[in-house]
Amino acid sequence: MNYLETIFGLAGRTAIVTGAARGNGRAMAEALLQAGAEVLLVDRLADVLDREVALLVGQGLAARAIVCDITFDLDRQRLFRELSRIDILVNNAGVTLPHPWLDYPADSWETTYRVNLLAPFELCRLAARRMVEQGKGSIINITSLNAELAFPDNPAYMAFKGALRQLTRSLALDLGGRGVRANCIVPGYIRTDMTRASWSDSTREQARAARTAIGRWGMPGDLAGAVIFLASDASAFVTGHDLLVDGGWSIKGL
Ligand code: NAI
Repeated sequence: MNYLETIFGLAGRTAIVTGAARGNGRAMAEALLQAGAEVLLVDRLADVLDREVALLVGQGLAARAIVCDITFDLDRQRLFRELSRIDILVNNAGVTLPHPWLDYPADSWETTYRVNLLAPFELCRLAARRMVEQGKGSIINITSLNAELAFPDNPAYMAFKGALRQLTRSLALDLGGRGVRANCIVPGYIRTDMTRASWSDSTREQARAARTAIGRWGMPGDLAGAVIFLASDASAFVTGHDLLVDGGWSIKGL
């Protein structure tokens, strides 16, 4: 047995990853599968989800698809009925609905709240109850640089990513003594459908890359190491932490 198996390995663990049909969620689900976990990939995009899970199963990985809209309470509860145990929850599903401040639409505020904060809170609570019974578990919430820094024309996204960050700390504090760890992964600009408007415009694409210390956009696979670390015993004494995967965006002064 080596460290890769003993502290980073996830054999025998069960994980849920939301928003796993594409983008960051798809890449993090694959990372957990490759580290040995059984993973429930959750998304509302039924066709894409089924196609991607079939590809993963075809590689011999223990992937299962569950079509679910995480804003529906009954859908959320169904996820946990499918599982005999839950070791890892990755709250990744999210939406961004940018619009200028002065007439920011009430329904965009409500939708962003329900997907980006209310659903993660309810899923954290369902998972944490089981993790407390089991005596162990790791919750990973995907926030954003918007949780800390100000970006234009996106008040709801900023507000609820910031709240998710504090929710994670609250969970880490209150349940740390009962075996539950809770941490955030904070991605910088990652090339996915969510950021298509930025990377398909060459001026904006180059500006975002130049804003990092590393000098490029992130790719979904750049999140693989972070999620395996936080899910596994390699991070057994890490909780309430923000793990930035931003190419150095947030430390760059000039
Ligand atoms: P994406 O839009 O490509 O993927 C999001 C996935 O979540 C989609 O498959 C979508 O169907 C699913 N989803 C949305 N609402 C759902 C619901 N109600 N129920 C079930 N599934 C739902 O976005 P991306 O870029 O992969 O983002 C994933 C997470 O990473 C989000 O939380 C996002 O805020 C965060 N993030 C992304 C960054 C980026 O640069 N791409 C930067 C920082 C954070």
